Amino acid sequence: MILKSLRTYFNNALLGYYPDTEIQSFFNILSEHILKMNRVDISQNLYAVVSGKKYDKFQKAIDRLKNYEPIQYILGDTEFYGLKFNVNPSVLIPRPETEELVSWIIDCHSEPYDLAQDRLRKESEIKILDIGTGSGCIAIALAKNLPNAKVFALDVSGEALKIAKKNAINNEVDIEFIEANVLNFEHEFFFPFGKDVSQRQKGIFDIIVSNPPYVRELEKEAMSANVLDHEPHLALFVKDDDALLFYRKIAELSNGILKPNGSLYFEINESLGSSTKALLEENSYNNVELKMDIFEKDRMIKAIKNE
Ligand SMILES: C[S@@+](CC[C@H](N)C(=O)[O-])C[C@H]1O[C@@H](n2cnc3c(N)ncnc32)[C@H](O)[C@@H]1O
Repeated sequence: MILKSLRTYFNNALLGYYPDTEIQSFFNILSEHILKMNRVDISQNLYAVVSGKKYDKFQKAIDRLKNYEPIQYILGDTEFYGLKFNVNPSVLIPRPETEELVSWIIDCHSEPYDLAQDRLRKESEIKILDIGTGSGCIAIALAKNLPNAKVFALDVSGEALKIAKKNAINNEVDIEFIEANVLNFEHEFFFPFGKDVSQRQKGIFDIIVSNPPYVRELEKEAMSANVLDHEPHLALFVKDDDALLFYRKIAELSNGILKPNGSLYFEINESLGSSTKALLEENSYNNVELKMDIFEKDRMIKAIKNE
């Protein structure tokens, strides 16, 4: 089939499933991926023949799009903070609001620029723990942008960790992955040398970050089919009557393993900003700071552990 006819066929097949502009955008993204052709290439090669495996890939994509599968799962990868990440249905597709959280952390913790030496001043190593790492997007973007960081990343899902490990290799960063359930995780895990009280007081991590599950069951109704039917519910949902479960558990755990003055960062449910702030204050954190995303929704929070 020639490209021009393929485009018409693609548009007609998805008519009624998505708005016209989105169908165009899917076609362009798939052409880039399958044919290595951008929009200009397409317009200049309308009579090029697409056949065999390449044609089959378009057909498969149409079938999956009709099933409302996210385009990122169909392609098998996505971009986050300028880096490429493999994704499959065992990991949440990284979101732009999470890039804003990463950006906040990098802004607060980048090494200062040494004007006299005309280079970054080499600071001592900092340790970071990412809880609920999924695709590894937060951990890997931080490792890539904070060269003095040693990054650890934890998730309960072995399948998610397989993808995260692959992403760390592809992005050439060294991350220590931990398969564990944070809800019954003991901070002793990080103190292998037993009962050294002074070590415990010093803490381990400079930064702990988490984008934990935070969507309440009652919020399901407002979600689109491509999220609800295809992204992992383990990554998304919490019970209506205990929506801050992960925040409470991580705040308690972090009290045991953050260094004095260490920073705790969360992505949060936009409707639960003030209760998340109150929870952190009740857990003795200082300087609790809520921050909005570009859509002016409460989306992230930072807190400092007591000295
Ligand atoms: C909202 S997703 C965040 C994924 C990724 N960090 C991101 O920002 O795109 C939450 C992650 O927490 C993990 N998770 C859910 N319950 C967990 C638990 N009890 N212990 C550890 N991780 C858990 C899920 O597997 C999922 O990868």
